[in-house]
Amino acid sequence: YVIGIDLGTSAVKALLVDKNGTVAAEASRSYPLFHEHSGWSEQKPDDWVEATIEALRELASSSGIDAGQIEGISFSGQMHGLVLLDGEGNPVRNAILWNDTRTTEQCREIERTLGDKLLSITRNPALEGFTLPKILWVRQYEPQAFEQAKLFLLPKDYVRYRLTGKLHMDYSDAAGTLMLDVAGKEWSLDVLSAFDLPASFCPALVESHGLVGTLLPKVAESTGLSEATKVFAGGADNACGAIGSGILSEGLTLCSIGTSGVILSYENDKSKDFAGKVHFFNHGKQDAFYVMGVTLAAGYSLSWFKKTFAPSESFDQFLEGVGEVQPGAGGLLFTPYLVGERTPHADSVIRASFVGVDGAHERKHFARAVMEGITFSLNESVDMFRKAGKTVDTIVSIGGGAQNPVWLQMQADIFGATVVALENEQGPGLGAAMLAAYGSGWFESLEACADKFVKHADRYEPQPEAVKAYIGIFKVYQQVYAQTRSLN
Ligand code: XUL
Repeated sequence: YVIGIDLGTSAVKALLVDKNGTVAAEASRSYPLFHEHSGWSEQKPDDWVEATIEALRELASSSGIDAGQIEGISFSGQMHGLVLLDGEGNPVRNAILWNDTRTTEQCREIERTLGDKLLSITRNPALEGFTLPKILWVRQYEPQAFEQAKLFLLPKDYVRYRLTGKLHMDYSDAAGTLMLDVAGKEWSLDVLSAFDLPASFCPALVESHGLVGTLLPKVAESTGLSEATKVFAGGADNACGAIGSGILSEGLTLCSIGTSGVILSYENDKSKDFAGKVHFFNHGKQDAFYVMGVTLAAGYSLSWFKKTFAPSESFDQFLEGVGEVQPGAGGLLFTPYLVGERTPHADSVIRASFVGVDGAHERKHFARAVMEGITFSLNESVDMFRKAGKTVDTIVSIGGGAQNPVWLQMQADIFGATVVALENEQGPGLGAAMLAAYGSGWFESLEACADKFVKHADRYEPQPEAVKAYIGIFKVYQQVYAQTRSLN
């Protein structure tokens, strides 16, 4: 057996997985988020550690499996969050998370200081969520805390450190810091020296399937696992989501619609230029990459609409009428900018809109328009991938957006690609387990592991009539952003 630990923003989930990729047991623990000021989002690193140890303890005891049979553990982690450690390895303050937006000023400073190097080295724009702007914020506003800080880690690296006593970071997570030379796979001394940060501030880099150590005796004792259990580095949640969905070769794309939405495509070519319009990160598969666009309010747009207009219905009741409405929702169009938008606009101020409301529209038209609007927003990323020369013909769909057959068909029609759902979808936790399985030598490659672990379910082919209708509506959708920008 292996264990995949998914360290998310609201909870940690641990999966015990056997050699066929079947989940034998799972356990989860949640932890609080702290929003001390508007736009701030923090967590206590030791809350993650306690929750992980408790989840592992439950997993070990509830499964009834002998601890000696659990060969390896690996991780998937929420990206970008800043954990600063003092010389003793203790956090100097709370972690500042990926969804914290206090660092606009530091992002502008990074753009001014690095100029063209920002994109050529880090391959990404300076966004509030990323790690370097958070480091600069702490230095500027909390100099005493910064004074004590000797090293930084990302969330899952801190948990792994407390489980093993070893300090590392993998390439896929390091790619979201704005300090990694993404194509060269090393910390960028150019970037570090531009901000007066010593190289010793950054942990040693490893591959996601790389072995970093074994469990500390006290951790083995408190979890009931064996001290011999091997611990592998793991990866960023989006990289692990891709691995767990089998996105391991050119031509494969992932659509994940959860609270936020992600479109992610495998990329082999480290020099492919997307002009910083989409994220370009190292994959959890060695020497591979992925490009990614994010819709901030994806599933959130639909749950907001349901909560506001149909609070007492179940989701199934609420979605019942959507399939009766033709593609295009009877001329009703929605843009899903409830909390701003990341890709392609990187605009935290823009807000959502309904356009084209007709007296004949019923609630089901609005519900369909919301689902179409979310999918159009994701299609902006698909569109940019294609314009940069990528082939997007097969899309694996996961998350809440893959639970509803009408939405899956809509994705095939709007993306103009075959959409495939997964059987027993497990998300990034399975990707983490696969890194442990590959690292443990169960398979000769991650692809071989995916052949066994990732099982395709239903396929949805694009329907020519609907595809044609959506091409026209998508053009209108793309114009709404500029027309509504000055409202906010
Ligand atoms: C990626 C991002 C989120 C977090 C969520 O850039 O900010 O997907 O990884 O955990």
